[in-house]
Amino acid sequence: MSTTDTRQMAGTEPGGMSITRNRLYVADCVEFMARMDAGTVDLTVTSPPYDNLRNYNGYSFDFEAIARGLFRVTKAGGVVVWVVGDKIDAGQRTLSSFRQGLFFQEIGFRMHDVMIYRKKNTPFMRSNAYTNAYEFMFVLSRGSPKTFNPLTEPTVRSGYEMLPHNKGPDAVNNKVLKELKKEKTRTNIWAYAVGMGGTTRDKVAFRHPAVFPEKLAADHILSWTEPGDLVFDPMCGSGTTPRWHCWPGGTTSGWTSLPNT
Ligand SMILES: C[S@@+](CC[C@H](N)C(=O)[O-])C[C@H]1O[C@@H](n2cnc3c(N)ncnc32)[C@H](O)[C@@H]1O
Repeated sequence: MSTTDTRQMAGTEPGGMSITRNRLYVADCVEFMARMDAGTVDLTVTSPPYDNLRNYNGYSFDFEAIARGLFRVTKAGGVVVWVVGDKIDAGQRTLSSFRQGLFFQEIGFRMHDVMIYRKKNTPFMRSNAYTNAYEFMFVLSRGSPKTFNPLTEPTVRSGYEMLPHNKGPDAVNNKVLKELKKEKTRTNIWAYAVGMGGTTRDKVAFRHPAVFPEKLAADHILSWTEPGDLVFDPMCGSGTTPRWHCWPGGTTSGWTSLPNT
């Protein structure tokens, strides 16, 4: 991670400070975002504390203030990917994620998509319910996303096949030789292996209790940004999003973190 890139964030919000890209800032993200210039971030990939599942050194998680801060710093056409799951409390799901999604809409974000992060392997078994194998990835945008580079996957069938062709006036159902596509746009359910070697190979990152897969961050960065765009994670934990901002072409990033992470 370079610390020599001294380009500043764009924007002329009165009172806005210049924040250097490609740096980690240790700060409360609500205070930090209030000091950032408005409308400067192209993509945020972040994940909040889930309900009160963990105590992150007592730092407060003020969801509404964070949501409003994200709305303020996101560019028109910019995207926020909010990776979130629910605690199971007294035998039922809290649905905090749903409430958060609705709040994001209330303050002006579009719920562009509700994607699923499926875990290929998961330890969260319940004795009276099916094993939980997913979290949500809310894809929020300010207006329509300005960038979409769809990721693709191989099709099951490819090569040449005789395929039905439109009927003519004779009502005969003709077939013609056509080449099937080798690749198709992925669905909005993305599956990742989790745990050491899946989430990351970085042992130091695992000192953090709730790391999301580095490929998840990379896939969203590839999907929603162009080279040179600003990627941000206000609650970066072990630093997964900042570590994965360097896709070919070099996206630049700014972010914050807390001392415990
Ligand atoms: C679910 S974890 C994020 C993990 C991260 N995505 C990763 O891959 O390592 C949530 C993080 O938010 C941080 N956090 C909570 N409240 C915060 C705040 N007000 N400002 C900055 N960070 C905060 C916590 O310290 C924790 O590291």
